Amino acid sequence: MDDFKNSQPSGTGCGVVDDTSSAEQTQFLSDVLDGLSGDVKHLHCKYLYDQRGSELFDQICDLDEYYPTRTESSITCQNAAEIAQCIGPNATVVEYGSGSSTKTRVLLDHLEDASAYLPVDISAEHLQRTALQLQEEYPDLDISPIVADFTQAFELPQQYDSSGVVVYFPGSTIGNLLPDDAIALLENVSQLCGPEGSLLIGFDLQKETVILERAYNDCQGVTAEFNLNLLQRINRELEGDFDLQQFAHLAMYNQSKARVEIYIESLCEQTVNIDDQEIDFESGQRILTEYSHKYTIEGFAEMASSAGLEMNRVWTDEKDYFAVMHLRAT
Ligand code: AVI
Repeated sequence: MDDFKNSQPSGTGCGVVDDTSSAEQTQFLSDVLDGLSGDVKHLHCKYLYDQRGSELFDQICDLDEYYPTRTESSITCQNAAEIAQCIGPNATVVEYGSGSSTKTRVLLDHLEDASAYLPVDISAEHLQRTALQLQEEYPDLDISPIVADFTQAFELPQQYDSSGVVVYFPGSTIGNLLPDDAIALLENVSQLCGPEGSLLIGFDLQKETVILERAYNDCQGVTAEFNLNLLQRINRELEGDFDLQQFAHLAMYNQSKARVEIYIESLCEQTVNIDDQEIDFESGQRILTEYSHKYTIEGFAEMASSAGLEMNRVWTDEKDYFAVMHLRAT
């Protein structure tokens, strides 16, 4: 199976996509039917993050096997002063994603006179909640949420001077994008932050297959439940009749593409109905639900450079599992 146009949780590291207006339902149905009709079956990974999916993803972030979240947090905590120094004073922090996590607070606590904090998320409700909560903790900071899909180009409100903009993109969510889409996103960042701006981004590093596969096949089965919840969501929202006992979660590392590939596999030959349409599955046939790309520091710096961003500093953990990189617009 090769690349298809898959994107990422259009929201957050611990992404929330609200369920759903009727236009969104129509889009969801059309994407599901399109994705499941061909021989190479796939579903867009943003659909993993309904209310239940987001709760399960939060649980994944706390699993022993899932090292990225806690590793990024500890890199950020341990190097907060240096990170803040790289970013400099009076920054306008534009965070791609939820912004409700510890990492955001650590950053805000260490920056010198941050002038504004603009969390960007596609979910207005989630943003509002985050912004209100943070405003209570940082009463003097200008906090202005922006409802936007950060995988597409968007503009900052005029009053925010682009000269001191730092885009903060934690969570290794960039890894859920195909390389071309990741470059397009980095190009948009470089445009958004302007010639004096910068990017602080977290991404997952290549490592032994066994560690990667364990992270996406935890022994409690939370990742399996997260993945299979997508079928339950289709049953619930699109009148599907998937029998969850007849499908299984599968995650494996594709070394040649440097990515974990996550599938749902049909355990028998079967036909599923969705909104009165029949979808046939052979035994062993798979639905691709997510890619999670893993990088080297050099590879990531090269990709960013092709998008107009030059590496300034990088921090990793002692095992070199994860990286947090600061880049400057060129
Ligand atoms: C959101 N994203 C960074 C996660 C990852 O590791 O690629 C999504 C995930 N899927 C299963 N486990 C975690």
